[in-house]
Amino acid sequence: KKVVLAYSGGLDTSVIVRWLQDTYNCEVVTFTADIGQGEEVAPARAKAEALGVKEIYIEDLREEFVRDYVFPMFRANTVYEGEYLLGTSIARPLIAKRLIDIANETGADAISHGATGKGNDQVRFELGAYALKPGVKVIAPWREWDLNSREKLLQYCDERNIPVEKKKGKSPYSMDANLLHISYEGINLEDPWAEAEEEMWRWSVSPETAPDKPTYVELTYKKGDIVAVDGQEMKAHEVLETLNKVAGANGIGRLDIVENRYVGMKSRGCYETPGGTIMLRAHRAIESITLDREVAHLKDSIMPRYAEVIYNGYWWSPEREALQALIDQTQAYVNGTVRLKLYKGNVDVVGRKSDDSLFDEKIATFEEDQGAYDQKDAEGFIKLNALRLRIAAGKGRKL
Ligand code: ARG
Ligand code: SIN
Repeated sequence: KKVVLAYSGGLDTSVIVRWLQDTYNCEVVTFTADIGQGEEVAPARAKAEALGVKEIYIEDLREEFVRDYVFPMFRANTVYEGEYLLGTSIARPLIAKRLIDIANETGADAISHGATGKGNDQVRFELGAYALKPGVKVIAPWREWDLNSREKLLQYCDERNIPVEKKKGKSPYSMDANLLHISYEGINLEDPWAEAEEEMWRWSVSPETAPDKPTYVELTYKKGDIVAVDGQEMKAHEVLETLNKVAGANGIGRLDIVENRYVGMKSRGCYETPGGTIMLRAHRAIESITLDREVAHLKDSIMPRYAEVIYNGYWWSPEREALQALIDQTQAYVNGTVRLKLYKGNVDVVGRKSDDSLFDEKIATFEEDQGAYDQKDAEGFIKLNALRLRIAAGKGRKL
């Protein structure tokens, strides 16, 4: 018996390695990925070795993460419950996929993860795993063991000589980070009335202390994806790395919300999504000149559904693929450049241009329009649209 574990190298998942070995008497394969969480992944090798792990996978998935998951999601201007940019939700399908790939490569019949039994992440990992390998076994230690406090975990390590490194400046929050966002939950945030402490935030300065001068940035799009920043071409993950820096420095991307988890409870979370906050505004701006009105409204109408699909963990599903096909098809002409002004927590769109623009100055102008639009046509347009309203009013219906 062999199990592939999503291993961060931290305390929780280190305990899980040992617990799996002891409880299931199985061989553990560890998988650690760099998806831009800002922590070194290389040390995971020595830690896994110390726990007797023989097959250790450490991978740099930053480019794949942004190119194949984050960018496709941003083509839809995806936002959950009006605010959450899905930073954690969008990373889980990639982890699930790699867990299954590695299970297949190593002949493992099970996967395991360190998500609790109360959250969304367990659902996302496991729905993905079952969709990609229907017979896979899933072991979720947090739903089985009784090590449900930090003290008990430390005691478990103590009894079994599992080395624990005491990290200095370790945040007390439950956090999750990748190139798109960093999340904070728990501790004082469990009171939705309590404001987050300034020290909690890690990726952005507060708008109050942001520079007094605005920063301008230009984003160039090809088929709905950013391909260059300030004229410099770069890969997907480099785009986000660059935007995170400039947005964070201007106090952009902080969010404090109470959201509805798929498992039924409400949960309060704080998020920093600096680059993503810019990307959302900029993508809408480039679409504003390149998309047909009905296409734009159609994709807007399915967006909340698409967000729910991702939030709830159905990335690997036929409905997500169908929605994605529609969204991607709308992006053929979403090309051009957007100019943004970043200032003290604000993202202002100040310019947009495209060779595929549908904006026609000659038609929109308040000046003489040379016959492209005959204002007399508007009279019939309005009258026919008013027909049913006039009939109803004529029959004495009151509004
Ligand atoms: N509430 C957010 C979500 O469901 C963030 C979850 C953070 N996960 C974590 N393991 N800390 O997407
Ligand atoms: C967890 O429960 O592991 C984190 C929170 C979540 O998954 O929603």
